[in-house]
Amino acid sequence: MAVPEPNRELEGFLLDTRRRVDATLDELIPSEEETPRRLHEAIRWSVFAGGKRIRPALLYATGHALLADPVHLARIGAAIEMIHTYSLIHDDLPSMDDDDLRRGRASCHKQFGEATAVLAGDALQSLAFGAVAGDINLTADVRIKLIALLAVCAGTPAGMVSGQFLDLEAEGVTLSAEQISQVHSQKTGALITASVLGGGIIGDATEAEMTALQDFSCKLGRLFQMTDDLLDATQPSATLGKTAGKDVVSQKATLIAGGDLAWAIGQAQGVYDEACRALAPIERDTRYLNSLAYLILHRTS
Ligand code: IPE
Ligand code: IPE
Ligand code: MG
Ligand code: MG
Ligand code: MG
Repeated sequence: MAVPEPNRELEGFLLDTRRRVDATLDELIPSEEETPRRLHEAIRWSVFAGGKRIRPALLYATGHALLADPVHLARIGAAIEMIHTYSLIHDDLPSMDDDDLRRGRASCHKQFGEATAVLAGDALQSLAFGAVAGDINLTADVRIKLIALLAVCAGTPAGMVSGQFLDLEAEGVTLSAEQISQVHSQKTGALITASVLGGGIIGDATEAEMTALQDFSCKLGRLFQMTDDLLDATQPSATLGKTAGKDVVSQKATLIAGGDLAWAIGQAQGVYDEACRALAPIERDTRYLNSLAYLILHRTS
């Protein structure tokens, strides 16, 4: 992932995050030698295909601000990435977005068949909750808080699953900007919120800090999906690692469905500004959170 100026310092941080989360994922996910081998192969195919790992980066950036021990962030970071990857596997299924390309390679169901892809997603969700439940570095109290956070953010009525439902229901329908924002907040924002608030829980943030982090993450989650929709319309498949131009074909309800790209870019800039304002009251070293927000606004994949 290209790091835009003036955020060069972020590059090392992102590399470190990736190294940590990939090592933990490798420990937690059964090896391809273990039966059922094809299921584990499918899981690893999708997890280790080179995603940006932006959610773990947000978790570690929040942990950095709150002086959390990175060791305490490892499993929840991997858990969020597992739930995110499961959401991508299911998102690509023929009954959902019907996408053949993901993270620069064949999507899970193209490579392994639909039933295996459904089960790979299901297994990733179970592995995620199990990883946090069994994290011996955390107190039982913190583990329960994280599990509750994950459950709310991954599920329904205001999490990733309900957002995905609303997204599919809105195909071919014209939604207001407010309704689109609700879909974005749930399908994408919820896991971004889990990443930021997970860092808040482990870093023992004050109530006021948690409120500010929640506000920041809501804005950031919306921004992330706005830029995803913009990239779908402006970047080639080779850059995205997924099929470009898919939203128009599927008649997705996006901010650019009306055809005004410049207006949509302005909206994204506005939400970025709101995210920065939400972060401002936190009197900690939030430099990586600020840099990640900037990166999300300017990302090219
Ligand atoms: C793609 O997420 C799906 C959305 C929620 C928009 P990412 O852009 O973070 O995908 P990876 O993890 O880098 O593949
Ligand atoms: C997906 O949104 C959000 C998820 C929860 C997976 P999209 O359907 O726009 O994500 P991409 O563009 O396929 O990655
Ligand atoms: Mg989708
Ligand atoms: Mg999709
Ligand atoms: Mg998209």
